[in-house]
Amino acid sequence: MHFDLLLKQGTVFTGAIGIADVGCRDGRIVAVGDLRTATADQTIDCTHLHVLPGLIDPHVHFRDPGDPAVETLETGTRGAVLGGITSVFDMPNTREPVVSRDILDRKRASLEAGVWCDVGLYVGATKTNIPELAQLERQPGVCAIKVFAGSSTGDLLVEDDASIEALMRAGTRRVCFHSEDEPRLQQRRQLFSVGAPYATHMEWRDVECAFLGTRRIMTLARRTGRPVHILHVSTAEELDFLRDFPDLATTELLVNHLTQIAPDAYDALGGYAVMNPPIRDRRHYDAAWAAVTGGGVDCIGSDHAPHPREAKERPWPLTAAGLTGVQTLVPIMLDHVHAGRLSLDRMVQLMAEGPARVYGAVGKGRIAEDYDADFTIVDLARTRTIEEDWIVSPCGWTPFAGHRCHGWPVMTVVRGHVVMREDEVLGPPSGQAARFALA
Ligand code: DOR
Repeated sequence: MHFDLLLKQGTVFTGAIGIADVGCRDGRIVAVGDLRTATADQTIDCTHLHVLPGLIDPHVHFRDPGDPAVETLETGTRGAVLGGITSVFDMPNTREPVVSRDILDRKRASLEAGVWCDVGLYVGATKTNIPELAQLERQPGVCAIKVFAGSSTGDLLVEDDASIEALMRAGTRRVCFHSEDEPRLQQRRQLFSVGAPYATHMEWRDVECAFLGTRRIMTLARRTGRPVHILHVSTAEELDFLRDFPDLATTELLVNHLTQIAPDAYDALGGYAVMNPPIRDRRHYDAAWAAVTGGGVDCIGSDHAPHPREAKERPWPLTAAGLTGVQTLVPIMLDHVHAGRLSLDRMVQLMAEGPARVYGAVGKGRIAEDYDADFTIVDLARTRTIEEDWIVSPCGWTPFAGHRCHGWPVMTVVRGHVVMREDEVLGPPSGQAARFALA
């Protein structure tokens, strides 16, 4: 047997976990097992390393087209592979939002200029593009329709029940929601003045903003029968409530909500803790971890949302909301594994199998024959501190600077191409538009 790439003697996650070799040809996995007699163009010794299915970050904002001083598809995917991510799903709230066939086609074509990992593209819902959504969600490379039911960065917003019901009746695939109740957000904004402490952010965008938004969305999902994915669930109340919708709802948690706790995060980071939905207190942090270990969550993402330093340092509430995270997601989650907060197996479920299942990402999420040869190869014994100068996002900062991580991604393989090895990004870039099953 001869392969293009042969990963030898790693601890391989195939459902069961054990020492194995993995043979890849033409970008696919073709054999897993004892391949000691095989030859290959490229053989990599993975002794003492864990070979995980390629990990997916299903929630990034790469600002492309729009703002190269902050991020581009090239820099965003470079950060992804340096951090052990093999696929990202990129949000539509760019300066020119991705809301039409024309902009989507242009964005998909721009991937050919060079991206380092595979990319799924969200299409944004607006009140005027509802008639086109059924067709837009079936275009190549589209991971899902994204609805901002509460306002955040950019102008995308569909906040009223009639429009949300109409868009749920347009199309069939799972729809992704930013769930915060817009009327309540607007009312409560008046209660706080400019220059209030950064921790005011979680009082403005309070628990009821998120919970009310999710209750409204689930009422409409129940009425229409449309499956939904609630992005960045941030409250104990929503996690509890969503358990009643196993037939319709899937959920995402963010690494930030599993790592940072208010009010300490605001005291330590100021504007660099401001994101939507906000970092909340320990009660919600504990509920998020209970969902990770006990069930009730499908995916973990970063919500990588870069902004210039100047915009993060403005007084509240003029502070831009959003935190970088695609490059630090895997190190931080491995550190949580080391601390015993979740098993490596559960991390793989939530960062590979979960996103592949929720979005229908074809060929992703598993190490098995005929799947894409995507791997995140990690050294659980490696200890390393996240340094800001490691971050390749042009905005140049991370809320996790100084965080000491036990466990680190040492190699990233995308469809058989070793694109990162020991901090070196290896070209040429070979990322493509990801493929999705159409319901
Ligand atoms: O904090 C956030 N930032 N939340 C979002 O929903 C959008 C994101 C951004 O694009 O900056």
